Amino acid sequence: MRHVTIEQGRMEIILAPDAASACCEAAARIAAHVRATPEPVLGLATGRTMEAIYRALVGLHRDEGLSFARCRTFNLDEYHPIAPDDPRSYHAYMRAALFRHVDIAPERTRLPDGAAADPAGECRAYEEAIRAAGGIGLQLLGIGLTGHIGFNEPPSDFASRTRLVELDETTRRQNADLFDNRWQNVPRQALTMGVGTIMEARRLLLVATGAAKARIVRDALEGPVTPMVSASALRLHPACTVVLDPEAAELLDLA
Ligand code: F6R
Repeated sequence: MRHVTIEQGRMEIILAPDAASACCEAAARIAAHVRATPEPVLGLATGRTMEAIYRALVGLHRDEGLSFARCRTFNLDEYHPIAPDDPRSYHAYMRAALFRHVDIAPERTRLPDGAAADPAGECRAYEEAIRAAGGIGLQLLGIGLTGHIGFNEPPSDFASRTRLVELDETTRRQNADLFDNRWQNVPRQALTMGVGTIMEARRLLLVATGAAKARIVRDALEGPVTPMVSASALRLHPACTVVLDPEAAELLDLA
């Protein structure tokens, strides 16, 4: 594991020897945060990169007694419109990947309601619920091919809050596998925490693996800090860790 810091020591980049170690490192950091915090508030993400991280966390729960009972969780995003019990929803993803395997009460887990009749009201209530929980202590993030974190497609204002957004065609294509491999079937919209919401988390943990992410990882970490690449905002955060495998890091100058 090689550790590099950039941007006057603000951002820590961990170059893992392979994707499996990158995901184990991320899980270990989440576990350490949960163990060290009396009332952990976790920000969670979905997607393919996260699957191995959740498998590792379930393993730590099963084999090492890691308890999630004191945690509250807030996910980054959910498609719109989609019902929470739809198997293609992020609600269903989270139940299958993590929640039903660990000791967390369902009422302590929250995702934006993709079936809300009043999406703007749901987004305001989501922000309020995060505030009422004391803010997010550790936010887990992936990165999309458009540079999105959450579903903050370009351009996304760095001050943006939880809101209804239009998904890029690139993102709908990236996520077509659950929708019969037809990108046109992927919902056009989503509810997502804003870049501003994400930036208020006290610690951020971004994980990217695989060659497909190399170009956007370089743009986010070494290109201009710009609303055209939402993930570039992370370089302005005081406590952001990025965990990469060699393929995702291969275009970085520092790698
Ligand atoms: C999902 C999310 C997205 C994904 C990103 C990467 O909740 O917020 O930003 O993290 O699209 O997805 P994968 O890991 O499938 O490449």
